[in-house]
Amino acid sequence: MPDLYSNIHLVVRWLHVLAGIIWIGHLYFFNFVNVPLQASLDDATKKAVNPQLLPRALWWFRWGAMITLLAGLALFTLLYMYTPGVGFGPTSLFRDANGLTSRAAWILIGMTLGAVMWFNVWFIIWPAQKALLTGKIPADQAPAVRKRALKTSRINAFLSGPMLFGMVAPAHYGAVSPGALCLALGLGAVAIWMSLRASGSVGKLT
Ligand code: HEM
Repeated sequence: MPDLYSNIHLVVRWLHVLAGIIWIGHLYFFNFVNVPLQASLDDATKKAVNPQLLPRALWWFRWGAMITLLAGLALFTLLYMYTPGVGFGPTSLFRDANGLTSRAAWILIGMTLGAVMWFNVWFIIWPAQKALLTGKIPADQAPAVRKRALKTSRINAFLSGPMLFGMVAPAHYGAVSPGALCLALGLGAVAIWMSLRASGSVGKLT
């Protein structure tokens, strides 16, 4: 029977990945499905559909982001900043005789990208969408606000590819090398670009 620490670790890891799927799933829904869909709807249909669709999707989106961040920080503390029976402080997963470990370097890259994405959700995308949905933005300013939210959402989509390498590499890959970083950045961003192209979403940021 695994000990209490291992069980808590497993549940926190599971919660983190579950919330991450909810968050990034909605991010991809917005970028790959909703952007091209909105471009094909007339104004009357938008007025009927969007007040029903967007508040629901944005609720799961922003709270998914919040739970992912909180569970991710808890996971970081459990793995890198806490030793059972000893207490809080950098663990051997965080640093060894040579300094910062490769595992810690990978997760710090992933966490930095994830934190930027979380900031974008809570401080740019959601405030803009809320103001648009509640009619607080004057009609002449609405297109600019909408465009800013969409651009930030697209930036998050691109960041998500490399960010996921930063999440899965720590426990499943070795050293941080220039080649591995190029793979994470290149394949991560190219995969999103190809998905955006396949979805017909490219060039529809208005
Ligand atoms: C928002 C900021 C985020 C923080 C602070 C964070 C933190 C962490 C930490 C500390 C780990 C453990 C790494 C290790 O095993 O050494 C981890 C793993 C992971 N995270 Fe995140 N994360 C964030 C965002 C995300 C997002 C958006 C997703 C999307 C699904 C995600 C998915 C994962 C996955 C799949 C793992 C690996 C699980 C495994 O290998 O067992 N994370 N994350």
